[in-house]
Parts: sequence; structure tokens; C-alpha cells
Amino acid sequence: MKILVTGGLGFIGSHTVVELQNQGFEVVAIDNLSNSSIEVLEGIERITGKKPIFENIDLREKSSVQNFFKKYQDIVGVIHFAASKAVGESVENPLLYYENNINTLVYVLQELTKLPQANFIFSSSCTVYGQAEKMPITENASVQPAISPYGNTKQIGEEIIQDVAKVTNVNSILLRYFNPIGAHPSAEIGELPKGVPQNLVPYITQTGIGIRKELSVYGNDYPTPDGTCIRDYIHVVDLAKAHVIALQRLLNKQNVEKVETFNLGTGTGSSVLEVIHAFEKVSGQKLPYKIVDRREGDVIAAYANTDKANAVLGWKAKSSLEEALSSAWDWEQKIRS
Ligand code: UD1
Repeated sequence: MKILVTGGLGFIGSHTVVELQNQGFEVVAIDNLSNSSIEVLEGIERITGKKPIFENIDLREKSSVQNFFKKYQDIVGVIHFAASKAVGESVENPLLYYENNINTLVYVLQELTKLPQANFIFSSSCTVYGQAEKMPITENASVQPAISPYGNTKQIGEEIIQDVAKVTNVNSILLRYFNPIGAHPSAEIGELPKGVPQNLVPYITQTGIGIRKELSVYGNDYPTPDGTCIRDYIHVVDLAKAHVIALQRLLNKQNVEKVETFNLGTGTGSSVLEVIHAFEKVSGQKLPYKIVDRREGDVIAAYANTDKANAVLGWKAKSSLEEALSSAWDWEQKIRS
């Protein structure tokens, strides 16, 4: 069965390609290499023994999307990762984000609806909940007005899919990720942030290896036990496996609604200081850090209630924070060696 993975050479995309191939799916990966590297294909091959079919396509070009789907009419499912995800950049350049994240979604859906099997998995984010009133966050928590164009593209993306599914053959699962971290245990693929990392874990591992002098902890005066923000850090391999299960649910027609939504997290919240200390434990070294002002737009706490994914998908995150950090550290050491 042929599956299209857009953004297939990116961080979550590449790990999902591996899990799909491990389950016997034939994968066609699309990527424009704007935030990824062609060498990821070899990493995937070293892990699975197989290179996915690769198409270097920019999904913002509508005619390229149309030509792609004419060529691959036997696709039975699409996992759509291709998107930009830097919050600050989206504030600076909102039109880039609406073009990258919304236009591309529209073009893919336009072609998908022409296929006999229109199964669609969408990368959404816990950012849609904003600062939720109750922890842990269930899928029923209300969607809050987005604070960045990036966050808005995830909300609008979900709405587009809901509208389209009502009147077409599209069946979809929206996956709301909490904080994906880590790398494949083989250290053959992992996260490759361009420039200075914005996210906590790549910043920590780059500090650990000496590329960055020290980590800035954004605020220790939050109303949390140690004053730093709380997030739900999920191992990217656990996350990737959830995509395969969600896809199988659509392929087997087990979905009970045209569009279903699931939180993907571990269910456990960790503070920034807890992440630092866990990293120190797995790496066996002290991490230099200083406390600085809060970062604009950060919520105090966000961690998932994963009951729905556990019960309905039969999926549960298995890796601990330490295992995830350990894999991120192995990867950082490998790419710098
Ligand atoms: C961020 C985005 C989120 C997006 C996700 C994509 C914001 C407000 N949210 O999530 O919408 O889906 O990335 O990957 O940008 N921290 C530090 N020092 C650092 C970096 C981070 O203290 O150098 C802290 C942050 O304040 C936060 C935690 O670490 O409390 C996690 O930050 P990060 O990894 O950037 O993820 P989110 O902000 O949760």
C-alpha cells in the first residue's frame, strides 16, 4: 500500500517514514529540503534497509502537486507534515506561513479528493489549546484564539479539513502533538535545526556539545512548583508510531467520525529545570544555564490527557523523558563527530 508522506525528510516525517516502512508500507516522500537534508534518505535506508521513493517538490506550486498526484494515482493515504513551525518567524513573516501551511494544504486536499481512498493524517499542535484552564488537557478543551500566525495556521488547517470532510470522501485524523523531542535510537536520523535552535531540547544538546555557551531559561517566576514552565515532552519515535496506527485506523475504516482528533503526548508534565537535570543525568555533565526574562507567548503549562489515544488508538507513549533526552544526546554527538 502506497502512502504519501509530505515533509518526509523532516524531523517527525523521517521518523514516521521509518515506522511505515517497518510495517511494510511503500512510502513516497515529498520534501522541498527547505528545512531538511537529502542525506536523511540514507539514514532511513540504513535503519530500514529501504529508501523511500523521493520527490523533491515544493507544494506551493499547484501544478507540481497536480502532476504528482497524476503520477501516483495508487496512493491510499497521505500523512501531511510539510509546514513551517517557527513561532517567531511566523510573526515576522505571516504571509510566508499562510502560503507554506495553508496554500499547500489546500492544493493537497484538492488532489486527494479525486482519489478513491482519501485518507488524511494532519500534523496539528497543542498550541491550539493556548493556556488551557484544566490540566491535563483533553481533546474537549476549547480552542483558544491563536497568539501567532503559526498557531493560527494549525487552527485554520483543522477547520479546512473539517469543512472539506463534510462534503467529500475525505476521512481524516488530526493529531495534536505536545513537545516532540529525541531521535531514532540508531542515531541515524534526528532533529536538524537550522541556525540557532528555538526549541528547548536542541538548544540543550548544542550547549552540552559546546556550540552554545549557555542555555537561557525563560523565566522562573511562573506559578509552577519550581517556577519554570511545564511541557509534555514526547519521544519522536513514539509519536511516529501513533501516525502509523492512526493511518491503519482510516485504512481499516474503523474511524467513527469523518474527522477524529487525538492528543499525542506522554501525559506527564516536566518543568524546564527538570529537563535540564534529566539531561545532566543522562549526559553525565553539568549544563551551563542562566535564568532570563520570560519569552513572550509562552504558556505556563501544557500536558496531555492521553486517555482517548490510549483507548481508541490503543497507543501509549513508551519512552521516558530520560530515554528521549539520551537519544537526542547520542544524535547530537554523532552529527558533531
Ligand atoms: C513551541 C511553540 C509551539 C510549537 C512548537 C514547535 C512557542 C510559544 N510555542 O513550543 O507552538 O508547536 O514549539 O516545535 O514558541 N525554553 C527555554 N529556553 C530555550 C528554549 C525554550 O527556557 O532556549 C523553554 C520555553 O520557555 C518553554 C519550554 O522551554 O517553557 C519549551 O520550549 P520549546 O521547546 O520552544 O517549545 P514550546 O514553546 O512549548
